Formats: sequence, structure tokens, C-alpha cells
Amino acid sequence: MNQKLEETRSILKKYGQEHLLNHYDALSEENQKKLLNQIETVDFELVETLYNSTKKEEKNTEDKITPIDYLDKYKLNGQYKYYENLGKKAIKEGKLAAVTMAGGQGTRLGHNAPKGTYDIGLDSHKSLFELLSDNLKEEGKKYGVTVPWFIMTSKENNKTTQEFFEKHKYFGYQKNKNLFFFIQSELPMVDTEGKILIGEDGLIKQAADGHGGIYEALVKNGMTKKMKEMGVKWVFIGGVDNCLVKMVDPVLMGIAIDKSVTVACKSVVKANPKEKVGVFCKRNGKPNVIEYSEITDEMAEAIDENGELLYGESHILCNLFSVEAIERMGETPLPYHIAYKKASYLDKDGKLVVPDSPNAYKFEAFLFDAFGAVDEMAVLRVKREEEFAPVKNADSAGVDCPKTARELYKKFYHLN
Ligand code: UTP
Repeated sequence: MNQKLEETRSILKKYGQEHLLNHYDALSEENQKKLLNQIETVDFELVETLYNSTKKEEKNTEDKITPIDYLDKYKLNGQYKYYENLGKKAIKEGKLAAVTMAGGQGTRLGHNAPKGTYDIGLDSHKSLFELLSDNLKEEGKKYGVTVPWFIMTSKENNKTTQEFFEKHKYFGYQKNKNLFFFIQSELPMVDTEGKILIGEDGLIKQAADGHGGIYEALVKNGMTKKMKEMGVKWVFIGGVDNCLVKMVDPVLMGIAIDKSVTVACKSVVKANPKEKVGVFCKRNGKPNVIEYSEITDEMAEAIDENGELLYGESHILCNLFSVEAIERMGETPLPYHIAYKKASYLDKDGKLVVPDSPNAYKFEAFLFDAFGAVDEMAVLRVKREEEFAPVKNADSAGVDCPKTARELYKKFYHLN
């Protein structure tokens, strides 16, 4: 062990992170081992590069942004039935799986447990996980199948998530038969000086690597392999926090099949040009999403010959991929974006510091940065009131909060 400790010290010295061993002696033997293993696996080069990037402007103004074509689900006329039938056939053949990304921290909502366990205040008091599972089971029944469900968790919330599912008898699903959990990767958090934070447990403080970690996590954890063994060809990937998410959509699938694209995404039209959402676009000729912080006022307000916003198709994290596309995306590293967050840590004297304002950088990959890996993808505009009721903020924010989601949910399902 001493030799390992010495080797570790020299790695840390090279990267100016020697403080990580400051509390080593006070740790249990088990945590000492864990810490040394963590240090062995952390990519310090990457952490250094990411920290250095916090000092640079992130915007890439050189990119050529152009509008992307889309279809409107309710203006498909005669084609609607054709696409629907194509999709229905594939679903009946068991070719669809659903993935729910539930590895986020849900900091804006402020719920002290995984976001999927949140009760949005319906009379039934069902959690987001249960609302999603209800819809998935109901839709599967229409086609005589149980759509396999894959849940991505983080190291931080995996145990509580799985315990919650167990307590609720997996909502009728069978673990490891048609319900699978897998954990996304993490990256260390660093302070404003580039020093990696030490968490309350004396170990390196890590945070989930963003929803863009989904592709690598699906591949690395053997989920895509499992999907293929099950005969799955198409995978719907959505967030845990949209209580109206429709994971089974034969029209979306039919379009992907008919157009021979490997990615098909749903959009809702922007509520107004200033709405703070990312919108679909082409970036240097490839499908992408432009974020609200990146789009100019002029672009945000530009309209086409029909009076529709040129950049009006909001990305709502409702995307369908072929299993092969996921595998390809899982092999391609994505850029990391920087978030400045509040993170508690142990200071040099071993005292826990709980900051009341942001103090540390977190690095996250975004799912849509992988879209550029394909030449073409389909974008299908759906109705906001039918498919998008996100729970992002606490009620005090007044938007995308439990109250607004609950109202949309009740309206859609005609509940009182
Ligand atoms: P958000 O980007 O809205 O993040 O995630 P969040 O963690 O839920 O909330 P804030 O930003 O901390 O308030 C959109 C979806 O992506 C998942 C979330 O669980 C949610 O379903 N996600 C996000 C992950 O699975 N992993 C991540 O690392 C980040």
C-alpha cells in the first residue's frame, strides 16, 4: 500500500493536486483504498484542460448556423397513417426500447431525492417515475408488447433510485428482464483555482457528466448489447422530468424508418422568440441545437415566408435513435460545457464548508452535441400541450414547475 501511496503522491504532484491526500490518514481503510483508486482513474490531463477552458470564452462564433427542415405531426395529411402503420409494425415486433435519463441533480427543483421520485401534487400522488411508467405500460399494451425500460442514474442517486423502484414493486416491471438500471460516468468538480474538491466523505467530489454522457454510458454498461440481443432496433431517449413525455410514438418511428434516418427528434414550437430554450438548427451543415444564450435576437425573431419562426423548433429531450447511432455516438467524445455551481467540500483543516453561492465548476456534456455525428435527422413538431410538461424549477419560479406541469397533465388526461 505504501508503494501505491507514494506513486499516487507523485501523480498528484505532477498536476498540482497534492491536497487530495490531506485527510488520507483520517479515512477508514476502505475509504483510503477508494481514494487511491479514484486518483488512479481520474483523467487529470482532462481535468486540467477543462479547468483552463473556464477562463476562455466558450462561444464558437465561427460556426455557420442555418435553419433545419421539420415536419408537423398534424400537417402530414395522407402520410400520417402511412408513417403510423410503419411505426406500429416495428413496435409490435418488439423493436422499440425506452431510456429515461434520471442522473441529473435537479438543483433548480430543490427536491432532496432523485427527481423521478417527486410527487407533482396530483390527487393520486404518483411520482414522476410512476407517471412515466403508467404511460409506457399503457402504450405497450396497445401493441401487445412490454417496451423494455432502461433507467440511467448517477453514482450519487443510483441507490436511492433503485430502492424507490423496489419499494414500488418496480411499477409492474421486472428488474433485469424488462427494466434495467445503469450508472453514468462522473467528472471531478474543481474550485476557482483549479483544485479538485474533496467531498464530505474525504473522497474526490465528482458529479455526473451531463445528459451527453448517455451514449457512452449505454455502450460501456452493456445496454446496447443487451438491446440488440433483445431484438431492439430503436431507442427513445427522454428526460425524467417531462410528465407528458410520449416514449412510444409510432408516427415518429415510421418517419425515421421511411426516411432512413438514424435519429428522429420531437420539437414543440417556441412559445415566443425570447423563450429560453435551445432550438434545432444546422451547424456547419450538420444537425444540431443552438442554445438560447448563443442565438442572436435577429435570428431568434427571423420568420419564413409563412410567418413561422425560422429557428422555432425547441429541443425537448424527446429523441429516437437507432441502436447503431447510439453506439457510434458513444465512441465519439463530446465537448464539455461549464456550469458554475454550489458544492460543499472539506477545507484544508477537514472542516465541511457549505457555500451559499456558487464556488465550483462542474463539467457536463450535452446530448445534442452528438447530433452532428449524422448527416441527416428528422425533426417532428408535436403539440406542446400533448407532450411537454417539464418540472425544472420550484413553484416560486412560476414556469416549468410542479404547478404548471400538474395543470398540463390534468388537462391532457381530463382530470379534475
Ligand atoms: P437538466 O439539464 O434539466 O438537469 O436535465 P437536472 O439535473 O434535472 O436539473 P438542474 O439543472 O440541476 O436543476 C434534463 C434531463 O437530463 C437528465 C436529468 O435527470 C433530466 O431528466 N440528466 C441531466 C442526466 O441524466 N444526467 C446528467 O448528468 C444531467
